[in-house]
Amino acid sequence: MEKDPVLQELERRNRLAEEGGGAERTERQRRDGKMTARERISLLLDDSSFEETDRFVTHRCTDFGMADRRIPGDGFITGYGRIDGRTVFVFAQDFTVFGGSLSEANAGKIVKVMDTAMRVGAPIIGLNDSGGARIQEGVVSLAGYADIFLRNTLASGVVPQISAILGPCAGGAVYSPAITDFTLMVDKTSYMFVTGPDVIKTVTHEQVTKEQLGGATTHNETSGVAHFMAHDDHECLAMIRELLSFLPSNNLEDPPRRACTDPAERAERELDALIPAESNQPYDIKRVIELIVDDGYFFEVHEHFARNLVVGFARLNGRPVGIVANQPAVLAGVLDINASVKGARFVRFCDAFNIPLITLEDVPGFLPGTQQEYGGIIRHGAKLLFAFAEATVPKLLVITRKAYGGAYCVMSSKHIRTDMNFAWPTAEIAVMGPEGAVNIVYGRELAAAVRHAAGREGPLSEGRRAEVLAEARAARVHQFRAQFANPYIAAERGYVDAVILPHETRKKLISALEMLDTKRDKNPPKKHGNIPL
Ligand code: HXC
Repeated sequence: MEKDPVLQELERRNRLAEEGGGAERTERQRRDGKMTARERISLLLDDSSFEETDRFVTHRCTDFGMADRRIPGDGFITGYGRIDGRTVFVFAQDFTVFGGSLSEANAGKIVKVMDTAMRVGAPIIGLNDSGGARIQEGVVSLAGYADIFLRNTLASGVVPQISAILGPCAGGAVYSPAITDFTLMVDKTSYMFVTGPDVIKTVTHEQVTKEQLGGATTHNETSGVAHFMAHDDHECLAMIRELLSFLPSNNLEDPPRRACTDPAERAERELDALIPAESNQPYDIKRVIELIVDDGYFFEVHEHFARNLVVGFARLNGRPVGIVANQPAVLAGVLDINASVKGARFVRFCDAFNIPLITLEDVPGFLPGTQQEYGGIIRHGAKLLFAFAEATVPKLLVITRKAYGGAYCVMSSKHIRTDMNFAWPTAEIAVMGPEGAVNIVYGRELAAAVRHAAGREGPLSEGRRAEVLAEARAARVHQFRAQFANPYIAAERGYVDAVILPHETRKKLISALEMLDTKRDKNPPKKHGNIPL
């Protein structure tokens, strides 16, 4: 029997939408190691949960022979679905249709999805694979980008926004991912840059490949633009699902709790022996994190960037928490520009989305040197301070060892509204490290020790002079350490709420989080603060 013509027309349009740019271009996509936009969406979302919107939208451009080249959907697939049963909104650029380029029409699809996501309070996930603004459309395409940037900005802090870069993302198009909360890149198949290698060569005569300029490694390790690196599309989409498992759907919800089988009272004796006897010896803070959190599972963010500060998500008795920890195993855990910016952004994300913050502190201070000062460590370090100070979520601190100088104040100190400040007995809380302090405070005395030795022994050789100095210094360092480099002066003042044994840390943190479950705190009314950008 002949099919109903009405139904036939729907089927025809559906088929065209499914085919996208056709078999040849789809084959090329696969050859390049990339999945299609539809495959990506179906892998990202719970089975059969995707509801597509605006499937039949087409562009309206009539220039450059475009009138005859219309494909339903216009190269962007948009809609909503579920991840672990929770609603999310998604758009995916289909590189097989005009290189996934942005048109007036498909920008409108994204805008609709973003507006709805904000109204219903659900995350927005963008799967980017695009040649940028559709060249044939000119300024209306640029207008489409600006419409999206505005939504990205308005949605910031309202719903989580996640960008996966799964192919090209060039020119001004990079600024949508840049405004979103997390950017994931796939190694070898994705790249992001404001200006590509050809333009760079013309303007600055610099020769650089796409990969060197804006590949996943560059943006994960060097620029910090990307937060995660995946080996392929599969892994990238799985990471997005994992990331969302720690996040609430919007700023009015709490993050999702999970049943926890890891005992809240679990005492880890390994922690008691983890801090090296020598104060300047490194240890791995990630091991400390693993020993404290549920099932030893830590989902690290920005793993490859500014590794002297570790940030990421974990759970404590089933509650998602954000962890910020100095890493003594990298640059002695010092705070530099990159670490400060990395930490500040993470703290602000957690605060915006009601995720309690756990800070593990072992920091010798801010990194000295002209490179850091010229680079603006003052204003960048201030970002981290500002972020911790303005955060109103439950805040807990554990000082494992060093808390020196300005970094003591910055790293979630009592004075900037941290709710519970714990210190291990190995904590050293002081204005600076004993070596530096002794040189300044006992400078005259050290010089006198050299003079006296010279008086006794006659003119000193360089070696002997150094020996005398080292001896005098060691005695003072010992004295200084005994007097100041401990947690008790801070504890006597109430700057530290409790000195705890390392193996008790998990239990203490969980108990404090429970106590803080009903925490209410807010900042003075204002339009917004002026974080030192
Ligand atoms: C229209 C585009 C396009 C674009 C690619 N295509 N980019 N169509 N507008 N911006 C089309 C191609 O014509 C081609 O169509 C198909 O997509 C695949 O492109 P190829 O060049 O064959 O692919 P590949 O060799 O993989 O190169 C990918 C690419 C390159 C590096 C992305 O296409 C490229 O350089 N495109 C232009 C990038 C660009 O300069 N965009 C504008 C940036 S400025 P057929 O029919 O042959 O398959 C911008 C401003 C944003 O985006 C504004 C925000 C402020």
